[in-house]
Amino acid sequence: MMMANDQVRALRWDGEILHVLDQRRLPTEEHWLVATDAAETARVIHDMAVRGAPAIGLAGAYGLVMAARELAGRDAPGWIAGIAETVALLAAARPTAVNLAAALGRLEHIARQGIPGDWRALEQAAGALWAEDLAANVRMGELGAAFLKPGTRVLTHCNTGSLATAGLGTALGVIRTAWMQQRLAGVYATESRPWLQGGRLTSWELNRDGIPVNLIVDSAAAFFMARGEIDWVIVGADRITANGDVANKIGTYALAVAARHHGIRVMVVAPAATIDLGMTRGEDIPIEFRGPEEILRVSGRSAVEPLLTALNPVFDVTPAGLIDVLVTEKGIIERPDAAGLAALMGGPC
Ligand code: MRU
Repeated sequence: MMMANDQVRALRWDGEILHVLDQRRLPTEEHWLVATDAAETARVIHDMAVRGAPAIGLAGAYGLVMAARELAGRDAPGWIAGIAETVALLAAARPTAVNLAAALGRLEHIARQGIPGDWRALEQAAGALWAEDLAANVRMGELGAAFLKPGTRVLTHCNTGSLATAGLGTALGVIRTAWMQQRLAGVYATESRPWLQGGRLTSWELNRDGIPVNLIVDSAAAFFMARGEIDWVIVGADRITANGDVANKIGTYALAVAARHHGIRVMVVAPAATIDLGMTRGEDIPIEFRGPEEILRVSGRSAVEPLLTALNPVFDVTPAGLIDVLVTEKGIIERPDAAGLAALMGGPC
């Protein structure tokens, strides 16, 4: 069996503060930042030093742990109010990925139920989230890779690897596992404008693992599909609603439309923490719009004629009908729909 190195980690908790590998500087520099309180954690999440749905959930959890440590001297109402305020601050850092709100909700529940001031209980819960995400990725890797025949060529979008999770990755975890099982002929990674998560991060992770990758511009995907060079589109998710609609990096919807046109199958790989049964359909997902300068400027310099503005939605929603397989650690669903998701989430872990 071939090995994947997968040594990359996005975050490190040293028992006091959170260390964050600054993903904005990759791949040219491996620079670690520190977040010493909740406000700094919200900033590194909002400013994209750490990104990817599960990774921002983990960062947010440790942000809340640091706040809880500061709140530990308060009486019970003060403790609960302080925790609630911090949850609101951290959750507002990025709105689309439900993993952030879900992780914070889990820790807040523990804070409300437990002994006021017991911040160590929250630290333990954050550690458990980390371990669960890693284990989920290993399981999803196995479940997803089983769909791929030897010689498969995969197109992936954005970055769903160790940098976006506790380790291994979701869609990239399937790709890594398929590589180890010698099922994979190669990967096409889209650049993923404007942050270039594919160009800077996915290619970097795959190169480190020795997995062959072709970087393509986002708009070349249908070209390679038409030439018969893609067998599967495999992506992650930021939020999956009760009917199976999937929010993911902007451009995912177009990839799924093009894949269906060319008879190419689409796999979405996401932990159960990304499933939001409380939201009925994709139209209700809050979509983050970021500043126009992310499009107008490249490497800090103006890239186009001065324009009044640009529109920068950073996620879109792919309707469930365009998804062939949803892979979670709880199991897989072919042609996901409301009944399938309810059965999956209602079933045993
Ligand atoms: O804006 P980003 O880089 O946080 O967007 C990330 C994605 O869209 C990923 O595909 C998604 O979070 C899944 S990561 C396992």
